[in-house]
Amino acid sequence: MTTLIRNGTVVNATGRMAADVLVDGETIAAVAAPGVFTEADTIIDAAGKYVIPGGIDAHTHMEMPFGGTFSNDTFATGTTAAAWGGTTTIIDFAVQAKGTSLLSTMDKWHEKADNHCAIDYGFHMIISDVTDSSLKEMESCIDAGVNSFKMFMAYPGVFYSTDGEILRAMQRASETGSMIMMHAENGIAIDQLVAQAIAAGRTEPVHHSLTRPPELEGEATSRAIQLAKVTNAPLYIVHLSARHALEAVAAARNTGQNVFAETCPQYLYLSIEDMRKPDFEGSKYVASPPLRPKDHQTDLWRGLRTNDLSVVSTDHCPFCFKDQKELGRDDFSKIPNGMPGVEHRMDLLHQGVVAGEITLERWVEISSTTPARMFGLHGRKGTIAPGADADIVVYDPTAKQTISAATHHMNVDYSAYEGMDITGKVDTVLSRGAVVIADGAFHGREGHGKFLKRDLSQYLI
Ligand code: URP
Ligand code: ZN
Ligand code: ZN
Ligand code: ZN
Repeated sequence: MTTLIRNGTVVNATGRMAADVLVDGETIAAVAAPGVFTEADTIIDAAGKYVIPGGIDAHTHMEMPFGGTFSNDTFATGTTAAAWGGTTTIIDFAVQAKGTSLLSTMDKWHEKADNHCAIDYGFHMIISDVTDSSLKEMESCIDAGVNSFKMFMAYPGVFYSTDGEILRAMQRASETGSMIMMHAENGIAIDQLVAQAIAAGRTEPVHHSLTRPPELEGEATSRAIQLAKVTNAPLYIVHLSARHALEAVAAARNTGQNVFAETCPQYLYLSIEDMRKPDFEGSKYVASPPLRPKDHQTDLWRGLRTNDLSVVSTDHCPFCFKDQKELGRDDFSKIPNGMPGVEHRMDLLHQGVVAGEITLERWVEISSTTPARMFGLHGRKGTIAPGADADIVVYDPTAKQTISAATHHMNVDYSAYEGMDITGKVDTVLSRGAVVIADGAFHGREGHGKFLKRDLSQYLI
């Protein structure tokens, strides 16, 4: 089966050009001057549209256990929603429960995901029980294609690791060439502020942000950077939200240290003011790190331009307003942490192009090309080039849409961006050559998505 996508503007991280793309089976066979190819089994007209590599969301949580409940998207619903929004790969997090092994955790996540995903998927591993055996198991994870390990400086008693435990895992990462991903917030100090707030009757959702001040994200980020320096391990700061943390990352990068960071659309577009919404509506925006005062957004956009922020992922972790966020109505610390977003990352970042914050090429780079390189998918994903997987999005830059829970495909009863007008819309999506989205309909299949055994990262950027 061949597909020809013609008359479009092909946009890669490295530039744009008028070109036609020929797909043969699951891969891109050629990128050629317009008109060179005339025949194919299927022809897609991309006149006036961009032809971009499918998005890679390197940070999602489908069916994640948290706070006595589970994030509400399954791998089937979450990857379908991702496809609607032009994302053709997710990297989700397998979560080690205390007292269990990394390999049994990986098996469990394969059981959840295998044969259910509409698009390709990989795993990172969350290490929450640092023992001699889990440190040893990191190598088996790497052999199985899971070579990035998330650790938490937050959530004492749940996912939290001490500095000593982090140091030991970083030593293993350094030895094996794998990556430590860090949730950098000082959870020990935060827990004191949370207890004090609750005791004083400050129980509303906004106190989630007020008890997790940006200084404690900055402090933890700096500490993680120093631990990574001592151990000579590459470090990737996940979901960076605060200027204070960005400054620490930028300073480390200026010395040449292998430190990288991602931010998320919610930190670029939403703020602590959303958490003050009445009638418990603020709970919709409870995630960690929390939404910040609006002025942090300027710094984050600049970080995206200077490459101190290299990636934008969603941290998609949806909990329904009605019966899940509700768990914390009388106590913000019991609100499950996380926000939905996997469907709208490409659209939201495209608003950055429209507003002149980033270029078209940078849009592709931070949402697809860099996550591919960073997480061992280079060559296969993140580029429109011969030999790469035919994960392709035809994007209409002038179409208008309004984000709403009434029309989104994520399995959650609200949108954090309800009513937001968007310029640009996904037109057609191919996943390894198969049409997944076209003509405003889903043509994909649960189980089409394959597990991506990722290589060790070859390119640190
Ligand atoms: O609040 C969040 N971010 N929930 C998901 C878990 C995590 O820390 O990434
Ligand atoms: Zn299923
Ligand atoms: Zn986290
Ligand atoms: Zn997360």
